[in-house]
Order: sequence, then structure tokens, then C-alpha cells
Amino acid sequence: MRELSRIKKLAVEAAEEAGRYALLHMEKISKIARKKGYNDLVTDVDRHCERIIIKRIKKDFPDHSILAEESGGDTGDGGFCWIIDPVDGTTNYVHGFPFFCTSIGVMFEGAISAGVVYDPSRRELFSAEKNKGAFLNRNRINVSGMARVRDSLIATGFAYKASGRTRGLTYFNRVLRHAQAIRRAGSAALDLCYAACGRFDGFWEFGLNPWDTAAGRLIVEEAGGTVTTLDGGPFDVFQKEIVASNGKIHKELLHLLNC
Ligand code: IPD
Ligand code: CA
Ligand code: CA
Repeated sequence: MRELSRIKKLAVEAAEEAGRYALLHMEKISKIARKKGYNDLVTDVDRHCERIIIKRIKKDFPDHSILAEESGGDTGDGGFCWIIDPVDGTTNYVHGFPFFCTSIGVMFEGAISAGVVYDPSRRELFSAEKNKGAFLNRNRINVSGMARVRDSLIATGFAYKASGRTRGLTYFNRVLRHAQAIRRAGSAALDLCYAACGRFDGFWEFGLNPWDTAAGRLIVEEAGGTVTTLDGGPFDVFQKEIVASNGKIHKELLHLLNC
């Protein structure tokens, strides 16, 4: 679809512009506020990056719906909807830990059709369009070939709320005893992209929102990976839990998480 190529191009430009702004202002954050909980942070940069992206979408695609982390919105009536996380990894960002990104997924008729994740610290642009493969900058990417969890590097994340963290630790404990190692880097969107390009072999997390997973989910699938819910069912971006992998370790990872 020609329209989709135009959409993806704009998503790339907007994510790069927002990401560059975030990187440039990392040492100059003037406002840090708390959202739903003490650990759930938002900065003036998150908000500004979101405005950069929305302005560009409204200029080129005024009739598209927008669902964005900081300003809300809705998915509309089944036409095009842009799902935006202006800074995924805000806690890292606030601490100057360079693992954060801008994530933009575009949904059409209920399915994610294009996804872009930009990591300004490494100038890495992950992208995918439905049925056209996944890319890191201009190079095609594929999931890893790891066949067993014992040889795998697995990623996860923890919710902001204490109750979610306790639950997360239960699963962490289950997988840690069997995996080669686990990483908790602090950006779900980048975690998914790292699974897509084979740096991670699997990833799971609970308590996520559509803007965390919209783009990364498509990028994993287009790189040949598998994305499900914790019980192995089909994943959609409005579900809070996700298990993503190279496909080869998926069954074993699900089994460990559920045992
Ligand atoms: C968070 C990050 C983090 C994950 C949290 C998310 P934010 O997004 O993706 O890795 O563990 O669940 O909320 O708040 O930095 O956009
Ligand atoms: Ca996020
Ligand atoms: Ca965010």
C-alpha cells in the first residue's frame, strides 16, 4: 500500500526528530513530575517530544487518530491510528543512562501495519512494515537461532507499582534458574527490538501499555519471531502482558513462566 510507505517515512522522520531532541536535552531537563505513582516519571522533554511527533502527523495526516502516552487520545473508528511513546525508558533518561528511545506504531483496521523505534544514543533506527521485513537502519534483521533457554539471553522489565514488582520477581526467579542470563535494561520498546535483531533471544513483561509494544511487536514478528500473551494466546497491543522470542525457545520460555 502506497499510503503505508508515506506513513512509515513520516514515522521515521518524526521519531528521529524527537529522539535527537531528547538526546540533546538530556542534561537540561527542567521539570520532572510523577504520574500515577512515585516511580512513574515524566519530564518536560517527554512532553515536548510528543508534541514534535503529533505536529508532524497532524500536518500530513489530519484525519488519522492518535493515541499518545502523555496526551492521551483514542484509536478512532478502525482507520489509521498512530500509537506513540515519545520517550520509552524515561527513568533511564532522567538518570542519564543511555538506553531509551522513541516508539511509533501505526495501526490500521485493528492491526499494527508499521512500526518505528529510534535509539538516538546509538543512532539505531529499527523499523518494519507489515509483510515487508524488519530493518536496523538499512539492514534487514532476523531473530536469533538459539534453540534452548539455557543458551539464551532473556530480557524483562518491572512495573512501577510495588505489587507488580513482586509478581515480576516471581517470574524472574523462575527464568533466571534456567537461562544463561537475564537483562533488565529499562525500555520495553528497545527490548523488543533487541529480540528482533538477535541481541536478546526472548523477552517478557507484564503491566505494559499499547505505546510500549505497538511498534516493537511488529518489528519482532517481521524479523521472524513470535509474540504471544503469557498463556501462549494471540497478543494484541491492548493486552498488558507480552512474551516475545525468536520462536525456537518460545514454548520452553512459556513453560518456565507458567510453572
Ligand atoms: C517503561 C519502560 C520500562 C518498562 C515499563 C514501561 P516509560 O516505559 O518501557 O522498560 O519496564 O513497564 O512503563 O514509562 O519509560 O515510557
Ligand atoms: Ca513506555
Ligand atoms: Ca514514555
